[in-house]
Amino acid sequence: MGKATRVSMAVVRRLPRYHRYLGELLKNDVRRISSRELSERMGVTASQIRQDLNCFGGFGQQGYGYNVEELYSAITKILGLDKSYNSIIVGAGNLGQAIAGYTNFEKSGFTLKALFDKNPKLIGLRIRDIEILDVDILADFLNENKIDIGILCIPRSSAQQIADILTHNGVRAIWNFSVTDLNVPDNVIVENVHLSDSLYTISYRLNEDELFKTIEKDKQKAFN
Ligand code: NAI
Repeated sequence: MGKATRVSMAVVRRLPRYHRYLGELLKNDVRRISSRELSERMGVTASQIRQDLNCFGGFGQQGYGYNVEELYSAITKILGLDKSYNSIIVGAGNLGQAIAGYTNFEKSGFTLKALFDKNPKLIGLRIRDIEILDVDILADFLNENKIDIGILCIPRSSAQQIADILTHNGVRAIWNFSVTDLNVPDNVIVENVHLSDSLYTISYRLNEDELFKTIEKDKQKAFN
């Protein structure tokens, strides 16, 4: 099951986008923005933005719009990006190494402490100076180091077994790239990532016009 959120996940999923857009505005020295302008830029209605922010007490004033810096720092806090988190990656193959090599997560406060793998050829190698350790010592490592987030980049066949080791040894959240649903205690957060969802959305959009032409044709046929 995993840990439930107090506000709807739809709202939570929009927050990182608000954060990103406001960060861009700040970089471009935009200090104030009307709710209409923000909504146009983001493709979300102004009332949606207001409703979302109201879940956390509300920000900005009607007529004056939003103070970009204030809103950005408020959303930074709401997202918990003013804190730091320790993470590990289990599965140091293509995906695990790619994630480990991406330094921007560290800039946002997510420190990668180690990678783990079962392949002896990988154990002992370093990605950005972070060592790939033997998965056999995973539980011991977790007992000696406070790790908040476990990043699963292993095949689905071993994902549950590794998730159990993580959750039994203090890991509070799993970023799950292994394409399988995990059973975790109620206090553990699981975020499943399926890059294919995003890719399939592209393929839907590539085909949408044709799809609706066919639907219209079928409707016409049904009428005649
Ligand atoms: P890969 O084969 O390059 O890497 C997998 C690594 O996991 C290997 O180094 C292997 O030795 C290690 N491993 C396997 N079982 C293990 C265990 N019990 N403990 C520790 N290490 C173990 O595969 P790749 O391309 O990195 O993909 C990894 C997984 O992520 C696959 O299951 C793949 O389907 C999935 N994936 C998911 C995506 C998503 O969007 N959710 C995108 C790409 C891959």
